[in-house]
Amino acid sequence: MSQRKKTAILISGRGSNMGALIAAALKPDYPAEIALVVSNVPDAPGLARAAEFGIATAVVDHKAYPGDREGFERALDETLKGHGIELVALAGFMRLLTPFLVNAWSNRMINIHPALLPSFKGLATHERALEEGVKLHGATVHFVSAEMDDGPMIIQGAVPVLDDDTPQTLGKRVLEVEHQIYPKALALVASGSYRLKGQQVVRTSGTGEREAAAPLINPAD
Ligand code: GAR
Repeated sequence: MSQRKKTAILISGRGSNMGALIAAALKPDYPAEIALVVSNVPDAPGLARAAEFGIATAVVDHKAYPGDREGFERALDETLKGHGIELVALAGFMRLLTPFLVNAWSNRMINIHPALLPSFKGLATHERALEEGVKLHGATVHFVSAEMDDGPMIIQGAVPVLDDDTPQTLGKRVLEVEHQIYPKALALVASGSYRLKGQQVVRTSGTGEREAAAPLINPAD
């Protein structure tokens, strides 16, 4: 197999998606190696979790750059370059990025968002999904572009919304699907087995799984 892509995960909190990516990358044939975990929050619980796996960690605290988003991003960029990073996966990284970092990592930075984009960009996605009464909700992994929660979508996972759902129960169901789709998306990007057709990410190998695809209908009966 060709060289595994050196990947950094950027977090701000507990890092459960980070955990899913680390677990996937433990397999020797996984095309990405998690080489670094960076947090903008010094006491993010995910940092300790990453260290338990023997993964290098770093903190770039945005509070050290008051009113200077680009200064923060330059420091982040230097940290990434200093570790020879080739791909970046945002996993609950709660900072809006400026064109500086987005352009520096164009087509090499991906993000997971807890909604079926382009619906429910931004925060409180589960609350808003319930308010709007959608029957299917989910998560999206996408390339990061200059617009928030925008950019070519790599994979989406849908879950049913149940009548008695709260934002918490729905969020838990979505998080489970996040943990399934993020490792698949990173593998696709790291292996380079895709091409961009406008905004569409088209797979160039491994399409066999599609035979198992079934419509998700809710309510089903
Ligand atoms: C995840 O649900 C992720 O999709 C969301 O934050 C959570 C982080 O959880 N990201 C965003 O809302 C980004 N706009 P985790 O730290 O356990 O992975």
